[in-house]
Amino acid sequence: MNEMKRSKIVIGNWKMYKTIEESVAFVEELSPLISDQDPMVYLAVPFTSIKPASEAAKDTQIVIGAQNMNDASEGAFTGEVAGQMLVNAGAKFVILGHSERRIFFKETNEFINKKVKRALEEGLRVVLCIGENLTEREEGKTHSVLETQIKECLADVNQLENVILAYEPIWAIGSHQTATPEIAQEAHFFCREFIAQNWNQEQANQLMIQYGGSVKPENAKALLEQPDIDGLLVGGASLSVEVFSKIIHYQSDLNLGNHL
Ligand code: 13P
Repeated sequence: MNEMKRSKIVIGNWKMYKTIEESVAFVEELSPLISDQDPMVYLAVPFTSIKPASEAAKDTQIVIGAQNMNDASEGAFTGEVAGQMLVNAGAKFVILGHSERRIFFKETNEFINKKVKRALEEGLRVVLCIGENLTEREEGKTHSVLETQIKECLADVNQLENVILAYEPIWAIGSHQTATPEIAQEAHFFCREFIAQNWNQEQANQLMIQYGGSVKPENAKALLEQPDIDGLLVGGASLSVEVFSKIIHYQSDLNLGNHL
């Protein structure tokens, strides 16, 4: 199943960082550094930066998206943002189910499933985050956690071509404790097999699965060389053009980070 050649993707998740001016400056500085040889580059920016960043990214290879949305198309939900508003502002994709939303905002798989369906209806590509916490890993529950998250978050979602799965073990996020390429590969392979069994083999072969959790220039190449790791979801290291572009250029010998 690993013979399938999938494209590579690097997504920066800025979380709650960067003003409008900082976002636009970042896009303007990064875009000339990206070539056709590089992976696809997506930036998940704060809501306030979606429109200006999309305008700055027009005619470049950078794709702008959001980090969350509501499951309703509109309504009396103070403080929430609808998928159609993201599309209207220029977003092409949305991250859903990030562990920070599951932990701090108590999002459940059921709620995430509703958002996934709404986002796909609105024409947004979905980056669905899944991953176990440290206790679950230590207790040998990683596979069952991943299985449940995939099954419940993707319930009644038959078309997976607009879904990217992001395996983000919670113990690796912002912790400087990256999963080894072998640990990540094992989890990615498991997820792909699970998709093959519960959807079909072709969909599993085509599904992009990316890794997230303390990704840096020093570990990007080894992770991306694994057969089932198709991309990286980068938090902290996506906030600086210099550092993020080293991750994008993971194949380059000039990338000093890869010599470490
Ligand atoms: P860090 O790269 O800062 O560990 O964050 C990972 C993450 O949560 C990306 O969505």
